[in-house]
Amino acid sequence: MKTIVLKANNPGAISHAADIIKGGGLVAFPTETVYGLGGNALDNAACAKIYEAKGRPSDNPLISHVADVEQLKQIVSHITQSAEILIKQFWPGPLTIIFPEKNSKNTIGVRMPENPTALDLIRRAGVPVAAPSANISGSPSPTTAEHVLNDLDGKIDMILDGGKCLHGLESTVIDCTVAPAAILRPGAITKEMIEGFIGSVILATEAGKNTPKAPGMKYRHYAPKARLTVVVGENNMVIDNILRLTANVDEQYAVMAHSKNIDRYLGRVVINMGAENKDIAANLFALLRKCDDMGLKEVFVEGVAETGLGLAIMNRLKKAASFNILEV
Ligand code: TXA
Ligand code: MG
Repeated sequence: MKTIVLKANNPGAISHAADIIKGGGLVAFPTETVYGLGGNALDNAACAKIYEAKGRPSDNPLISHVADVEQLKQIVSHITQSAEILIKQFWPGPLTIIFPEKNSKNTIGVRMPENPTALDLIRRAGVPVAAPSANISGSPSPTTAEHVLNDLDGKIDMILDGGKCLHGLESTVIDCTVAPAAILRPGAITKEMIEGFIGSVILATEAGKNTPKAPGMKYRHYAPKARLTVVVGENNMVIDNILRLTANVDEQYAVMAHSKNIDRYLGRVVINMGAENKDIAANLFALLRKCDDMGLKEVFVEGVAETGLGLAIMNRLKKAASFNILEV
């Protein structure tokens, strides 16, 4: 299959993409988090094609994207009070809410994206749009159209190119079918922001302890080919330890460091993560892909504090590193 790539601001591009979705095809589209691989959520054959194109394990459910609350009501049976508050505060935006599914005993994850291209596409398609991240299962989520093309060229009908994604990490996932609500995946809508509106919530994000609540959490994610070591601790201790570990290595070893620290790694291959958590989040997946392009063997990454957006950054870094964490 030929995958066509159109700029989202080309006249007619979004309506063409919507026609493909209505016809049962697949379109990758930009959202404020990462690119999604979209198909008609009400069409089982289209959903099967999504699994096929990504190589996604069949027991990992898809989330649906809606443009308004009417579409939400088509697919969920009940909106709990906590869900209603979160919808009011954070939709459209980077928050996926788990609801009881309509006409079923299952649950379903739904989100209303705020990216205007995504919203326009869903509206024009006229149906809820199922969309996991538009990467091959196991590789970092795509934050540019080029990342999508690298992973899925020839496997999907179209890519809508809307430039670089704003947040760069996938949405926060919160299960509102349980009380208290449980965060299954941290993201740009932070635990602190959520608790400001609905009170204490549980963090159920670390795989391995019990059966993971979000099926996606049990799979290896975001993993570059290089071995990653995340080093956490006080800033100078982190730097000293990384300098020690990289004292006698060649150019296949690199350090991923905060902007403020890059001058401290003289003689090392240094990848700049950015200055603030917001920048680090936006750059992270592109940098993990870059590690592969550079053919690196091992990368030492400076960790961040696990508060606010830092919780989401560390969640992705730990998975990328297969939980290879060095506390200093
Ligand atoms: O930001 C995002 O959420 C992006 C963009 C495209 O919207 N989408 C995305 O989809 O990240 P995906 O499929 O890569 O991640 C959705 C996560 C997975 O970990 C999945 O296991 C979990 O949500 N999930 C889906 N349905 C669920 C359900 N009914 N109960 C619990 N977890 C669920
Ligand atoms: Mg994904």
